[in-house]
Amino acid sequence: MPLSKVSVGAIVLLASVGVSPASAAPNDGDAVPEHPTFTRDVLPILQRACQVCHRPDMFTPMPLLTYEEVRPWARSIKQRVEARTMPPWFADRTVGRYRDDPSLSDTEIATIGRWVDRGAPRGNPADAPPPVAWPAVDTWYHGEEPDLVVTSPPVVVPPNSTETYPEPEMETGLTEDRYIKWIQVMPGESRVVHHVLVYAVRDADDEAADGGPQGVRELLANRARGDFVGDRFEDGYARLLRRDDRIRLQLHYLPDDERSFSDRTRVGIKFYPPGYEPDYVVTTRAVSNRHDLIIPPGEANARSDAYFTLSEPTRIISFQPHMHYRGKAMTLEAIRPGGTRPELLTDVDRFAWDWQPTYVYETPLTLPAGTVMHVTAYHDNSAANRVNPDPTAAVGWGQRTIDEMNIGWLDYFHISEEEYAALQAEE
Ligand code: HEC
Repeated sequence: MPLSKVSVGAIVLLASVGVSPASAAPNDGDAVPEHPTFTRDVLPILQRACQVCHRPDMFTPMPLLTYEEVRPWARSIKQRVEARTMPPWFADRTVGRYRDDPSLSDTEIATIGRWVDRGAPRGNPADAPPPVAWPAVDTWYHGEEPDLVVTSPPVVVPPNSTETYPEPEMETGLTEDRYIKWIQVMPGESRVVHHVLVYAVRDADDEAADGGPQGVRELLANRARGDFVGDRFEDGYARLLRRDDRIRLQLHYLPDDERSFSDRTRVGIKFYPPGYEPDYVVTTRAVSNRHDLIIPPGEANARSDAYFTLSEPTRIISFQPHMHYRGKAMTLEAIRPGGTRPELLTDVDRFAWDWQPTYVYETPLTLPAGTVMHVTAYHDNSAANRVNPDPTAAVGWGQRTIDEMNIGWLDYFHISEEEYAALQAEE
């Protein structure tokens, strides 16, 4: 595996801190235990798929480490896992393979369901796997200090206030172009920092990295809730930060019900040594079509389509759908040159506006020059959409959350025709 770009993921987190998960995920179709117990059957699932967020000092309503903590939530846990709203992962499990996929197998869901239906027993304490040694919430994840830390100006988030989306811009102080080895976002107050986008912004006469409607800014990192890892590139792979780039954050603050918080979010960046030339430079592109985004009032299934043709052989690292309240589903397809049928690469069939994970392919997808990438977005502007702010409005493209977007973010890098041929021969 040449490339490691990691995102939300207990498994990766565990691997890097030197502990291994108590058990691998059982497959769909494995037998469901007749009398599941907490210690033997349920705790391993929680360690693998839940505790990364449900532990003390996190932004979640409750920790799920011990039987005492879990028992009062048993019914709610059953309901959330059966609805597949926990853990937050919204891609169809049968399409594509993803790194750090925390989603539960049918067997795991049935095990939790049966355990709850049979009274949620504790079981034998000796059956329990050892507790996971979770790292402190505010440590730089990759075990070394970053070379550059940019810190946002303080923002006070009063209780029960409206959501805000400040976009502070900071200088980097770089005196030359540098290649990024890893980048991690560290919220000051993770209870109120809902998500953070990190952009490199450059002046308008430079070539736009993401071409499209986003203008001259390149997405460097995107931190959804539950991502403590950030992006780390294996040797040879890198992202470029240019000397004159400024760092712009797009912060989304979601106020707490009770307490006021003052947040300063930091972005830590580790560079390769000066003068280092990577083999592959990773770029991010917004595949979107603002002109096709016409959402009539009340429409439950407004479709819009965007296309992007790969000019060279390419490896696709990840896909991340971005829409607002009315986002419903998004697919990514590839149409190879001369191909007659599109190949479905990812199907985010249950998009949730408040969770926007990045779907990182287990192995980067290899596609020939001339492949057309096709993003299809679906929006639900009906009254049945519980988060719809106004079903009577005609909605189009815009920055405000009451407007809409239809972006499929792609992370990718180009390879040569020779490398493409070699990868094809391996398959
Ligand atoms: C990426 C972080 C994350 C992961 C992983 C995660 N959760 Fe959650 N969970 C949250 C957050 C944030 C909330 C509160 C907001 C909400 O309800 O969506 C929540 C809410 C819940 C609730 C509802 C609590 C309430 O107040 O009613 C339950 C139950 C739950 N999670 C169970 C689980 C279980 C079981 C797993 C693993 C199978 C899991 N979660 C994995 C972040 C996470």
